[in-house]
Amino acid sequence: MKATAVAHPNVALAKYWGKRDVPGNVPATPSVSVSLGGLETRTTVAFDEALGGDELELNGSIASGEPLARVSKLLDEVRALAGHRRFARVVTRNDFPTASGLASSASGFAALARAATAAAAVHLDDRALSRVARRASASAARSVFGGFVALGTEDDAAAEPLEVDFPIAIVVAAVTLAAKDTSSTAGMAHCRATSPYYGAWVDDAPKVAAEVRAAIVARDLPRLGRAAEASALRMHACMLASDPALLYWAPATIDLLHRVRALRAEGVSAWATIDAGPHVKVVCAPADAARVVDRLAPAAVRTIVAHVGGAARVLPEEAS
Ligand code: PMV
Repeated sequence: MKATAVAHPNVALAKYWGKRDVPGNVPATPSVSVSLGGLETRTTVAFDEALGGDELELNGSIASGEPLARVSKLLDEVRALAGHRRFARVVTRNDFPTASGLASSASGFAALARAATAAAAVHLDDRALSRVARRASASAARSVFGGFVALGTEDDAAAEPLEVDFPIAIVVAAVTLAAKDTSSTAGMAHCRATSPYYGAWVDDAPKVAAEVRAAIVARDLPRLGRAAEASALRMHACMLASDPALLYWAPATIDLLHRVRALRAEGVSAWATIDAGPHVKVVCAPADAARVVDRLAPAAVRTIVAHVGGAARVLPEEAS
């Protein structure tokens, strides 16, 4: 009744932002992501009949309230599938900053879904597991798989891997280690309710996602970078037009965007993307990663070079 799983966060190259009006946390826009190898969440789930409720330890601290409620909701699904009512102790640790736009919910819920189903001996195929993860956090549906991964907008959507071997580097430039103040769920609802650009964003997103996907299949880095940067900036334009404005950027975010543009002017194929936080992630060729790091580091508190990572996986018992 115990298992440990590891999952990588992912960065969306075509962004999901907004939810459909159907049950189960279904995105309003299709997204395409890449798994961030080199960053990971490790989660152990132990079902125990002696427990009077679920328990969550997140990065060494006991968590309650909303984070615990989201974990319990996923565990409830697994308990229903397993046909038992045992509560679980969940211990989860990220090796990167939590809740700051570095997609910890993606790797967190993918690792939780993988570990909880393994601990309860519930056998789901990857698409079914992806649906369980999606209901907790849509980006987590993508972290079930490795490599480049697409997630659609159909009812009860599951992610699917593109299965393209396209080695790129993703330089993560973190501008703060503090947690963000507006969660993506709250930000999406606010944007939808108040941004006059929300409809335009939702209409345009499928074209950008198709372009991102085609660029990945063609293994064309400049084409991918252009489309990915457009997706991120259009999502942020929609956020900025909300009332009150949803401004996730810090001064360093803009500094980093200018540094990326300067690199491009010098002939380096480097392209930026930004999620619901101030950090900038730069897509480039692995051979250019060191040069990109040198340029970004003065404006960042930390840089991490990620490569294309693998799928969420259960660890053998002796490693957990
Ligand atoms: O699934 P969530 O709640 O972590 O939302 C993800 C939203 C973005 O990171 C901004 C975009 C994306 O597709 O990952």
